[in-house]
Amino acid sequence: MSYNYTGQVAIITGSGGGLGRAHALAFAARGAMVVINDLGGTRDGGKSSEDTSLTAAEKVVQEITDLGGKAIINGGNVTSEDDMQAMVDQTMSAFGRIDILVNNAGILRDKTFSKMAIADFKAVMDVHLMGSVIATRAVLPVMQAQEYGRIVMTTSSSGLYGNFGQSNYGAAKLGLIGLTNTLKLELFKYGIRVNALAPVAATRMTDDLMPPQMLDLLTPESVSPAVLYLCGKEAPAGEIITAGAGTFARAQILESEGQYLGADATPEMIAESWDKLSDMTTAKSYKQGSDQSQKFVVNAFENKA
Ligand code: NAI
Repeated sequence: MSYNYTGQVAIITGSGGGLGRAHALAFAARGAMVVINDLGGTRDGGKSSEDTSLTAAEKVVQEITDLGGKAIINGGNVTSEDDMQAMVDQTMSAFGRIDILVNNAGILRDKTFSKMAIADFKAVMDVHLMGSVIATRAVLPVMQAQEYGRIVMTTSSSGLYGNFGQSNYGAAKLGLIGLTNTLKLELFKYGIRVNALAPVAATRMTDDLMPPQMLDLLTPESVSPAVLYLCGKEAPAGEIITAGAGTFARAQILESEGQYLGADATPEMIAESWDKLSDMTTAKSYKQGSDQSQKFVVNAFENKA
């Protein structure tokens, strides 16, 4: 199967640098018309000095056009509904459709939870979680009318597994999995597939978090094929792909089969049964929340019968 995006339009938020830039170049190299959204700003979401990401976003547009591709710049803030609507309007008047949205924009404000100001928690939730919600809502009417769309949420191992000092970021990133899990159900009938990417790459976000030998291996370009895969015609729905330094994997939330202990179960019974009820050898990933409820009810019914 080959992946060609000729005639398709991809919006990539926060694509003035890092992973977003790599995704934009990869889509453009395979024929897509690309919208380079980036409001500029520092890693923590503050105001930039002269050398801003907005300049970097202009450079990405230039790189793409120099290679014979088509790209436009949008300086909108993903946390603003007006800006995201304006981005959709701008894209529609430039290219006439929107096939792909990669929610990639992000900031970091790391601190241990006990020392973190609530404002820093909210700022990170706002850009990663609400920014993805707002951009997704803005493109949705267009994708629904087209009966086609591919949306990628950028999650993180911090959300999937935890990371010291990143409670705000981890909460926002796992929130995106909750969003993906429901959107995959609600939007499938419109031909819209929603998936998530958990990348690792050397960018300004990670340049002081890992040693140089590791950073050399972790090129942003080595992650982008996962995004292209998730935006292909045959894309899955509700999957989480993890990607870094050339390795690609699938992440899932699994639940053990469990054990029926009865409606009058006690904490002591749970402790005694822990080995059995926590056994993950036959664990499953559910397609939707009600599959879990079904298991509980069937177990109770069968054990009463
Ligand atoms: P980056 O800092 O190079 O890129 C983020 C971009 O988003 C910046 O260009 C920034 O100007 C833009 N941005 C920030 N706030 C924005 C807003 N409100 N509106 C529009 N644009 C905004 O960082 P990187 O590493 O490329 O991150 C891209 C995504 O990948 C982020 O969502 C990040 O959380 C995620 N990620 C990155 C990992 C890594 O190892 N680099 C690991 C896991 C996730």
